[in-house]
Amino acid sequence: MEIKSVGIVGAGQMGNGIAHVMALSGYDVRLNDISSDAIDAALALITRNLDRQVTREKISSADRDSALSRIQATPDLAQVAQSDLVIEAATEREDIKHQIFEALLPNLKPETILTSNTSSISITRLASRTDRPEKFMGFHFMNPVPVMQLVELIRGIATDAETYDACLAVVQKLGKTAASAEDFPAFIVNRILMPMINEAVYTLYEGVGNVESIDQSMKLGANHPMGPLELADFIGLDTCLAIMNVLHDGLADTKYRPCPLLTKYVEAGWLGRKTQRGFYDYR
Ligand code: CAA
Repeated sequence: MEIKSVGIVGAGQMGNGIAHVMALSGYDVRLNDISSDAIDAALALITRNLDRQVTREKISSADRDSALSRIQATPDLAQVAQSDLVIEAATEREDIKHQIFEALLPNLKPETILTSNTSSISITRLASRTDRPEKFMGFHFMNPVPVMQLVELIRGIATDAETYDACLAVVQKLGKTAASAEDFPAFIVNRILMPMINEAVYTLYEGVGNVESIDQSMKLGANHPMGPLELADFIGLDTCLAIMNVLHDGLADTKYRPCPLLTKYVEAGWLGRKTQRGFYDYR
């Protein structure tokens, strides 16, 4: 089945980036959020990011205009459910994701493929609460979506080959590269990335280095584009903590114990760039 329309649930950091790249590649996009402010902010950000690509001569202004015309913002989940492919990109909380899939189910077309942009939660478990585990999989983009080349594709235990192939074709049409991951906690990227970030927080917690020296060490000493603490602020400290908890619970190994300092920052509401305060102060 050829995918022509894509419904995206959640217009936050990931959802707006996914809408951006899908529309630019010719898909009809229905972008949904429970908050109309979040939808307005997403449309403004997509416009700004497309403008940036026009300025840098990556795309033409006609490309930008047609991409924008393909994005329909809608508060109505029933409309999103009528898409060929639905990508859930809401908060990294399993209860919220289950609620969204339950709300979508009554209006889905029989052939619609359901996916989640979850960075760590079991695809098999999410799929098991829907009516179509064989047409369900993980479709995990990296942030910032318009820039990052990789998409992780995660098959649940019941995902069929036709569903995988249809999603792989979408990744290819986006001009991105797919990595196939098995359905184990946090898949590939976050299984490796999050323990590194958590270790950077322990390095800070134990006073081995300060925020600047830790980030500078990894930027200049390991050629990472961002230091681990700067990257944690960029991803969101709540998301980092949620992923560490999934690893800790799912793999039952103390090496995945979230650093108490990471927990404390999240409890304080210091979630990184999105709250203007994390390991760095953005106010
Ligand atoms: N939309 C469109 N273009 C964007 C953009 C956006 N949102 N953000 C940046 N860009 C473009 C810029 O226009 C620029 O383009 P050119 O190369 O054509 O000039 C390019 O990206 C680089 O941007 P900048 O010059 O502004 O800044 P930079 O060189 O410092 O790069 C960065 C910024 C791409 C974010 C870089 O710092 C980086 O790669 N950081 C690491 C990001 C990373 O690791 N992401 C993965 C996070 S983990 C994840 O996402 C998984 C998860 O589940 C948590």
